[in-house]
Amino acid sequence: MTVDTIREGEWVLLYYDERKSYVVRVERGKVFHTTHGSIDLSTLIGLPYGATVETNVGEKLIVSRTRFVDRLEGLQRVTQVIYPKDLGYILLEAGVGPGSRVVEAGTGTGFLAATLAWYVRPSGRVYTYEVRRDFYEIALKNFEVLGVLPYITPRNKDIRDGIEENDLDAVVLDMPSPWEVVEEAASKLLNGGTLIAFVPTTSQVERTLHSLKKTGLRMVEVTEIMMRKYQPKPGELRPQSLGVTHTGYIISSRKL
Ligand SMILES: C[S@@+](CC[C@H](N)C(=O)[O-])C[C@H]1O[C@@H](n2cnc3c(N)ncnc32)[C@H](O)[C@@H]1O
Repeated sequence: MTVDTIREGEWVLLYYDERKSYVVRVERGKVFHTTHGSIDLSTLIGLPYGATVETNVGEKLIVSRTRFVDRLEGLQRVTQVIYPKDLGYILLEAGVGPGSRVVEAGTGTGFLAATLAWYVRPSGRVYTYEVRRDFYEIALKNFEVLGVLPYITPRNKDIRDGIEENDLDAVVLDMPSPWEVVEEAASKLLNGGTLIAFVPTTSQVERTLHSLKKTGLRMVEVTEIMMRKYQPKPGELRPQSLGVTHTGYIISSRKL
């Protein structure tokens, strides 16, 4: 059996209990602060995954490997982001897989662009547009620490000024006014390609639907993903009392 040890630059999950865990990237010389004390991340390097470590106040944490979705939690957030419940559906609805070419806007924190990039690897590409320089720079850093930058072409550009790419498998718009872009986006899709817009309000859905009529795109669907988590306690099984109650609507359409 090979021993899988923690290396610098890798992401780890620090598990405290069923209610609290942390996700952090291992950097030499960096001290990570938790509500259960702090830990010098250098001390994790070389330990086997699954090891138990102690914070400076003697609290125990299990160090585990991460999934991609865990790593998103460890990123610096500067905008509203797309949540996993919507990311999963968007990926399937957009038909994204290895080799896909996808345009996305706006980049924001980079959750959606990074997730798309993770699934189009190793031969596909995500072209992501962000109008604000400060968000663009933070997203670049987020892509780098996630290891997805090689599969992304980031553009610090207003997508309303034009989409530079052609022959796209999908365009995914997570920006306040997708209706200003749908005609251009539709013209850039391959046959069978999908256009998706994600918006938080029904008035934005209406405007997007009106604009879609001008594009000739078909198979239009409006979807809201409702997810309810339960407290996993035998004998006390019931929905959790707190959680995200609304994210947004997913409008999808196809070029036939
Ligand atoms: C809700 S955030 C996107 C969040 C991102 N999809 C994520 O999952 O992290 C919307 C972003 O769109 C950007 N934006 C708004 N209008 C834009 C435009 N016309 N072109 C490019 N980016 C735009 C905003 O600056 C903002 O960063």
